[in-house]
Amino acid sequence: MLNLTGKKALILGIANNRSIAWGIAQQLHQAGAELGITYLPDPKDRYRKKVQDLTTSLNPSIFVPCDVQNDEQVTQMFETVKEQWGQFDILIHCLAFAGKDELSGDFSETTREGFLRALEISTYSLTQLCGQAKSCMNEGGSVVTLSYLGGVKVIPNYNVMGVAKSGLEMSVRYLAAELGDKNIRVNGISSGPIRTLASSAVGGILDMIEHVETIAPLKRTVTQIEVGNTAAFLCSDLSSGITGQIIYVDAGYEIMGM
Ligand SMILES: NC(=O)c1ccc[n+]([C@@H]2O[C@H](COP(=O)([O-])OP(=O)(O)OC[C@H]3O[C@@H](n4cnc5c(N)ncnc54)[C@H](O)[C@@H]3O)[C@@H](O)[C@H]2O)c1
Repeated sequence: MLNLTGKKALILGIANNRSIAWGIAQQLHQAGAELGITYLPDPKDRYRKKVQDLTTSLNPSIFVPCDVQNDEQVTQMFETVKEQWGQFDILIHCLAFAGKDELSGDFSETTREGFLRALEISTYSLTQLCGQAKSCMNEGGSVVTLSYLGGVKVIPNYNVMGVAKSGLEMSVRYLAAELGDKNIRVNGISSGPIRTLASSAVGGILDMIEHVETIAPLKRTVTQIEVGNTAAFLCSDLSSGITGQIIYVDAGYEIMGM
């Protein structure tokens, strides 16, 4: 029943084979979606080749750079989408950034620069992308973003990223309310902790994973593929009645009080 054949999916956030976006890309591809993939360009060109080599097996029909801090690049990405696809169906927003200094120590020491950068990249980018995507997304389209429990409850060292995720979750609700008119759904997945490039910057990430493995009902954390499966569900007609929600894919950790 989970069939994404004929759907076109734009995926932002693959950095390497540990990325949650890579788990999502594989599961959307397996369900039959045609993929467009972006990478974060950098002066040393570290990501382009790595992401290209990794994703070749999924036959993406679009492969473009996109740094969400660069308005021109975002616009150019959507120009390419319009040229190649006309309209598209699925937008996966699976990216975030905060400096290492912001992800340990006292939250009250967060600099203005660090605060604004974390919220610009991790929170505003969803609104920015939806603003441009809405004119070229098909009815029945779906937007999925990635959040974490640290946006709802205090998690040691998550600091400004918790504020960013809180804003992201509220953005999901406002965007869902607006885009519902076009029958475009917007949802978030709150994933349990997974070792990735981004999470390795969070102080004590291995302790966080170990804690989840002890406390969570399933006595483990989750995998990128499990998050990918939920993303595929949220992008499919099986979830046609769900919008504005944050779904926990965390082995049940969130329900525990102690
Ligand atoms: N790993 C976890 O434990 C975990 C848990 C819950 C939520 N998340 C969220 O999942 C998402 C993906 O993170 P991940 O853990 O897979 O790590 P990751 O490092 O693999 O992915 C983060 C991505 O963000 C991209 N990015 C950073 N700055 C960018 C910019 N300016 N423009 C465009 N892209 C940019 C990076 O290129 C990278 O691909 C993030 O939103 C993260 O907060 C992760």
